[in-house]
Amino acid sequence: MPMASSLVSSLPTRALLLLLLHISFSFNKLAAKHGHFAAHNRHHELRSHSSSNQRLHQAYIAFQAWKRVIYSDPNNFTTNWVGPSVCTYKGVFCAPAPDDPKIRVVAGIDFNFADIAGFLPNEIGLLSDLALIHLNSNRFCGILPETLANLTLLYELDISNNRFVGPFPMVVLSLPTLYFLDIRYNEFEGSLPPQLFNKKLDAILVNNNRFSNTIPQNLGLSTASVVVFANNNFGGCIPTTIYKFADTLEELLLINTSLTGCLPQELGFLYKLRVLDVSFNNITGPIPYSMAGLSHLEQLNLGHNMLTGIVSDGVCILPSLTNFTFSYNYFCEETGVCQNLTSRSGFTFDDRRNCLPEKPFQRSKKECDAVLERPVDCSCCVSGGGGAAAGPAFAPARAAFAPAAVPVSSPSIAPSYS
Ligand SMILES: *[C@@H]1O[C@H](CO)[C@@H](O)[C@H](O)[C@H]1NC(C)=O
Ligand SMILES: *[C@@H]1O[C@H](CO)[C@@H](O)[C@H](O)[C@H]1NC(C)=O
Ligand SMILES: *[C@@H]1O[C@H](CO)[C@@H](O)[C@H](O)[C@H]1NC(C)=O
Ligand SMILES: *[C@@H]1O[C@H](CO)[C@@H](O)[C@H](O)[C@H]1NC(C)=O
Ligand SMILES: *[C@@H]1O[C@H](CO)[C@@H](O)[C@H](O)[C@H]1NC(C)=O
Ligand SMILES: *[C@@H]1O[C@H](CO)[C@@H](O)[C@H](O)[C@H]1NC(C)=O
Repeated sequence: MPMASSLVSSLPTRALLLLLLHISFSFNKLAAKHGHFAAHNRHHELRSHSSSNQRLHQAYIAFQAWKRVIYSDPNNFTTNWVGPSVCTYKGVFCAPAPDDPKIRVVAGIDFNFADIAGFLPNEIGLLSDLALIHLNSNRFCGILPETLANLTLLYELDISNNRFVGPFPMVVLSLPTLYFLDIRYNEFEGSLPPQLFNKKLDAILVNNNRFSNTIPQNLGLSTASVVVFANNNFGGCIPTTIYKFADTLEELLLINTSLTGCLPQELGFLYKLRVLDVSFNNITGPIPYSMAGLSHLEQLNLGHNMLTGIVSDGVCILPSLTNFTFSYNYFCEETGVCQNLTSRSGFTFDDRRNCLPEKPFQRSKKECDAVLERPVDCSCCVSGGGGAAAGPAFAPARAAFAPAAVPVSSPSIAPSYS
């Protein structure tokens, strides 16, 4: 998924660089100050900085507890986690405490790519000064301890590419200053909690887990600029309430999330959108006319769906668009520039495997007719839980319309296309 990785790497880097610059500057000062005698006179160091030591001592207890539940450390990452000088531990960064700049505290941990296997201990709650946790690409398993709620300064939480399991870790919702949440590539399952979208997060990266039960209807209340849901099993439709997301949303990746229904006209309200990828779903119906208004859109991937109708000029002439993939659908007509996209220089497109009469690499007539003869059903087919997860507003209507044991499809939520 090259698109996702490029955008994700660009986003946190700004904030991270600032914080780490600050932290490593402090760290270097600390190292310079204590470098000479830390090794042979730890005791002296302990007493001479007694004001800071209470908090660093708590951190020491936390890291020793953590070390006890690390069962594999093939790169010897934690080998120097001995003694009370936690600021010299590999992966641990200290900085002046925001509430008391005269003392140093553990402000960040970065174990990215350490390949450590183990758990997070309850004592992680003692690291209450942490602003950054980066545990990307390890083999941590189990669940996030509830004591994480004690980390009231936490700004970035990246636990991606580990083996965490269970329902969405609700404890992250209690972190008051959390801004960047990355729980990609784990094995979380069940629903995404609606409260996730009430938090002031800039990035919500939950892709490659086992989430299911539809995308919450209040998605649009979020203030995030990047939302990546890809490779989960949500099902259901893109909520029409997504228009409320217009003021912040720039990148929305819904690849391979078992979506059905049609693309809502409301997508056209997302005027800041730069990347939209809904590929590898079962989305039906036409491209909404409103998408001609997405003037910042750079990358659009509609590939591998059941889309039909016209690929119209409105989209093909979007001023910022440089990559338009609509292969593996059932489009049967193109208008204007769409008929000859090679004429747009520096433009990448993929129109293969559609039903376009003039183009090479299209589907057979038989394959096209089978789909094009079927009426488009823009209603949303929610499997499993009877639609309860789609939000209280829709639940009663669904229950009223749907006889038991018949797939739920409420006409009241079907967008009407003329
Ligand atoms: C880690 O330490 C062990 C024991 O000292 C050593 O055998 C091994 O080669 C070290 N591994 C790495 C990657 O340095
Ligand atoms: C929370 O942090 C405080 C220090 O700020 C500490 O005294 C307390 O023990 C911590 N609580 C837990 C549950 O870790
Ligand atoms: C879609 O996601 C499922 C897991 O949810 C995975 O097994 C499958 O390989 C993915 N398909 C594509 C095309 O990425
Ligand atoms: C689309 O729906 C069909 C059956 O209706 C299913 O077999 C297929 O896996 C779905 N594809 C995706 C990408 O969700
Ligand atoms: C265009 O987008 C497709 C689908 O996301 C991607 O596979 C391809 O690499 C992109 N091409 C360029 C040149 O960005
Ligand atoms: C498409 O546009 C290119 C460049 O403008 C031109 O050379 C080519 O003849 C056009 N092809 C068709 C089929 O109109």
